[in-house]
Amino acid sequence: MRKIIGVAAAAALLVAMTGCAGGGDSAGSGGDDDIVVGFAQVGAESGWRTANTKSIQGAFEDAGIELKFSDAQGKQENQIKAIRSYIQQGVDVIAFSPVVESGWDAVLQEAKDAGIPVVLTDRSVDSEDDSFYESFLGSDFILEGEKAGQWVVDEYADADKVNIVELQGTTGAAPANDRAEGFRTALGDDAKFDIIASQTGDFTRDGGKQVMEAFLQSNPDIDLVYAHNDDMGLGAIEAIEAAGLVPGTDIKIVTVDAVHDGMQALADGKINFIVECSPLLGPQLVDIVKALMAGDTVEKRIVTEETTFTQEQAVEALPTREY
Ligand code: AHR
Repeated sequence: MRKIIGVAAAAALLVAMTGCAGGGDSAGSGGDDDIVVGFAQVGAESGWRTANTKSIQGAFEDAGIELKFSDAQGKQENQIKAIRSYIQQGVDVIAFSPVVESGWDAVLQEAKDAGIPVVLTDRSVDSEDDSFYESFLGSDFILEGEKAGQWVVDEYADADKVNIVELQGTTGAAPANDRAEGFRTALGDDAKFDIIASQTGDFTRDGGKQVMEAFLQSNPDIDLVYAHNDDMGLGAIEAIEAAGLVPGTDIKIVTVDAVHDGMQALADGKINFIVECSPLLGPQLVDIVKALMAGDTVEKRIVTEETTFTQEQAVEALPTREY
């Protein structure tokens, strides 16, 4: 059994393994035009999610593979309904990005009983039994949190006290849990770093704005905002400006994602540092589907390659940024 060995190299290897030209319509060369995939998306809560949906839909269209797509509007019950409907329709592969980490065992057992392979994209589940899914393709969210925290440690190396407020992602979602954990790990037990408030902004710009408004009212001395995604950081910028303060200067901001609007705010000096989380998972998901259909074993965990951006790096990257 051959294996996908991860990210870019894996994609190339997989193309060789399956004998399919990457991104091309394989009708007549392996039967990809007969494959049907059901994808259950989280929703459209952020710029990241919009780019992720575009990447997935575009990659399957390019590959000539039928994609049934559903938007759960941020609700786990909608995602479970969509997965059950894909099971009933007898799709070849089910892929989904779980809204939250817990509560998937029953529906994943149903997919397993129906013999339909499941691929997790972007976010994982906390099931004890990893035979419920073939592969988990996505970022290392703990590492993302650690990168954000390490930037804070370096930036405030000479400070005596740093008051931090945290805009968390959707409660119970893997990136919210892991980015919170990684950030705290990087800060360590240095008492000068004080997370004085932490609340969910649900990964949305509006949520980030509203929570930041409340933080500003009850905390007069905020030094830094750690937002689990760019959208909430952009909402925080609006709240900070409305309070007559200068984002990026009076209150520094570190975020995760590196979508276009976030990168623009970084280039403009309103955000101070961004940890990248790539939404461009479509082509790799197509490769995994093709491998499964060819009877190949796929790697259980495929970690997305990502970087970080300072203001200078954002200015340089913006003109060619894909999302
Ligand atoms: O799961 C990835 C996260 O979900 C992104 O960081 C966030 O923007 C999105 O909504």
